[in-house]
Amino acid sequence: MVRTARYRAVASVYDLVSLEWPVYRLPRLTAIAALNLRPGQRVLDVGCGTGLNLDPLHGALGRTGSVTAVDASPQMLAAARRRAQRRGWHADTFICADMTELPASSLPLADAAVVTYALSLMGEWQAALDTVIEAVRPGGSVAVADLTFAAGRLARPASRLACHLGGSDPMARPWTRLEQRTANVTGWSLRSGHVQVWVGTVR
Ligand SMILES: C[S@@+](CC[C@H](N)C(=O)[O-])C[C@H]1O[C@@H](n2cnc3c(N)ncnc32)[C@H](O)[C@@H]1O
Repeated sequence: MVRTARYRAVASVYDLVSLEWPVYRLPRLTAIAALNLRPGQRVLDVGCGTGLNLDPLHGALGRTGSVTAVDASPQMLAAARRRAQRRGWHADTFICADMTELPASSLPLADAAVVTYALSLMGEWQAALDTVIEAVRPGGSVAVADLTFAAGRLARPASRLACHLGGSDPMARPWTRLEQRTANVTGWSLRSGHVQVWVGTVR
């Protein structure tokens, strides 16, 4: 099931209200750095939202690299597409689809994939993550950054509120599937445990 109603509504203000700089930017950059990208590679960005991953991704991929960005919300995807157009990343492609239903065969084979703050609000996120892994070549990396409860008396209720407002299921813990489905899995627990960043290599 696709749950994007709130993202249709907030697309125009998402970058301002999403606590990007105080909370979520550092884990995002950690996830992308963990991919060890090289110029010219192709990366899959699932649940791409307004395209906040695009700048750091292209920082590593350069102008010869490209991003295939997927999102179920046309409004969020349009913001991501506009960002790429402004920057002149004309090789990037934007697919409006429910990732829990999209077959991997409809995606170009990628060198790596990143999913930030999206799997835990997808319902059947297992299907989406399996498709992401299938869409990456053997030896390529898949990085997931996602949300759960923070530890600590003040941080825990704040993390609960953040998950509630964003529609994330803090019990989903999608990174656990990376441990089952990929090799060389490494993780970082950030923001008092509220954000988990994990990366694995496709077998
Ligand atoms: C919290 S936002 C994160 C956006 C972006 N990844 C970021 O780091 O800022 C979650 C995004 O996942 C998208 N999404 C939710 N369910 C989806 C699904 N089943 N398939 C594809 N995208 C989905 C939403 O439309 C929204 O843009």
